[in-house]
Amino acid sequence: MQQTNIKIFDTKQELADTAAQYVVEMANEYISKHGRFSVALSGGSTPKILYNSLVRNYKDAVEWSKVDFFWSDERYVPIDHNDSNMKLAIDNLLNPLGISTNSCYFIETSLANPAGAADKYEKGISAYFEKPEFDLILLGLGDDGHTASLFPRTKALEEKEKLVIANWVEKFKTWRITFTYPLLNAAKNVIFLAAGEGKSGVVKEILQEKKPYPAALVKPNSGKLFWLLDKQAASQLELQNE
Ligand code: 6PG
Repeated sequence: MQQTNIKIFDTKQELADTAAQYVVEMANEYISKHGRFSVALSGGSTPKILYNSLVRNYKDAVEWSKVDFFWSDERYVPIDHNDSNMKLAIDNLLNPLGISTNSCYFIETSLANPAGAADKYEKGISAYFEKPEFDLILLGLGDDGHTASLFPRTKALEEKEKLVIANWVEKFKTWRITFTYPLLNAAKNVIFLAAGEGKSGVVKEILQEKKPYPAALVKPNSGKLFWLLDKQAASQLELQNE
């Protein structure tokens, strides 16, 4: 794995604006090289500020019709449910940018069987790629050290073959659909976005103390890894002098 690129920003907005810049630069690089850009969006609340920055600052900076959108995880709720990661992106990124659903690879959370939805999503990913290597995967960080829907002490952490799996999360008594480490670590670029004081403890434990939380095990085989933090999330890090 290549080195981890850690960048710390004074504010959550600066973090979001820089993340947006990275997304745009990567999109244009891969579109110019291969004609398309494949990106897996993360869930939770942090991505919303990134989406707003992309819409506000970069609406005309990318040929958005050449970007293919996936999701690195999803709550097992209907796509129009307020907890849906897909809905968050539709409302704050895809619709404002006028992106057609033809380039959106939605997870079919309407299926009765979560495992069936995961298998179907994996089939779609395998059909899309010659080798399932996303150009970019965006990830968040939970204060328990989870990322995507890879929560501590859940079965998905052990998956070594499948690319996408349905994961029962006892903590929430709910099913989640999530990328697994084989898919996450095959990515060409992974960007973690973490903001807020509530993340500062787990950020220190992962980045400084190297504790093996689920998020710590995302180590791209040959891709680049970025951790973009605001000052609050980085407040417990004892950084070496640059
Ligand atoms: C989800 C996410 C999850 C999220 C983290 C951080 O579906 O909840 O994919 O991994 O990224 O929990 O969430 P916040 O950005 O809301 O802190």
